Amino acid sequence: MDLREKVALVTGASMGIGRQISLDLAQAGAVVVGVARGAEALAELLPALQSLSPRSEVIPLDVAQAAAVSEVVQRIVSRHGRLDILVNNAAVEERRSILATTLEDIERVMRINFGGMVNCTLAALPIMVRQGFGRIVNVSSAVGRSPVPGEAAYGASKAAMIAFSESISYELEPRGVRVQVLFPGYVATTGMARQARRDGQALPPRWVHRTAEQVSRAVLRALDAGGFEINVAPLETLAPIVRAVAPKIYRRAIVRTQPLP
Ligand SMILES: NC(=O)c1ccc[n+]([C@@H]2O[C@H](COP(=O)([O-])OP(=O)(O)OC[C@H]3O[C@@H](n4cnc5c(N)ncnc54)[C@H](OP(=O)(O)O)[C@@H]3O)[C@@H](O)[C@H]2O)c1
Repeated sequence: MDLREKVALVTGASMGIGRQISLDLAQAGAVVVGVARGAEALAELLPALQSLSPRSEVIPLDVAQAAAVSEVVQRIVSRHGRLDILVNNAAVEERRSILATTLEDIERVMRINFGGMVNCTLAALPIMVRQGFGRIVNVSSAVGRSPVPGEAAYGASKAAMIAFSESISYELEPRGVRVQVLFPGYVATTGMARQARRDGQALPPRWVHRTAEQVSRAVLRALDAGGFEINVAPLETLAPIVRAVAPKIYRRAIVRTQPLP
């Protein structure tokens, strides 16, 4: 796809995977609007973004706030005339025992990871449907289809994202709007991965390790190639298959390899 003159909204653009996706979309010629909560990290991103794509911008935004999301999307359309690509990448991960988890903890994670994706999608859809063109890439996680201990809220938010995305994809594809879900593998260098390791998360096996650059390249390829699932580390897809065909062995492996929080 020729990304020149395409307008992209990337959430969680200030660091990690979202930062790399923003830079690569800008490099390919798209006008990128990068959002995240922290204004300082966004301000650091801006010069690099604009050196690649001068009309790109950054906007501080909490994706959990539906009204604020709607305002940002309206602002994008009034400034740039369209919205072609939405990458729902913003998320938080809070690893903790369910016995130390409150309803507020679960609601917070769901409001950002699942609710933020819903807010951005609902705000973008009328514009994309009117254009007859749109690409929505939702960044999920293997934990959403193969849950591990200590990740109840995070895993549930990512599982909800997968179900939501698949359901709407059937309805939107005939209208020119493609919805895809991306599974990045494990990117060790991001803020989220560092925090999860500090919180005692087991290091995933080497064969699912990827760089932010590899994940970002997969997003750009998927914008062209189509398909619903983008598996950046394809061996991750074996886990649900092993669970289905050999559930006892699978469960023993999880107990052996995944420390309790
Ligand atoms: N790293 C991995 O190994 C891995 C594996 C599987 C899936 N993923 C997924 O990949 C995506 C990116 O993760 P990452 O590892 O790159 O994380 P990261 O380095 O922690 O970056 C997360 C980004 O999301 C933003 N964000 C968080 N809450 C937000 C909110 N309420 N509103 C707007 N922006 C918000 C953060 O900025 P602020 O805090 O300033 O808002 C930051 O820009 C996530 O969806 C994650 O679940 C990552």
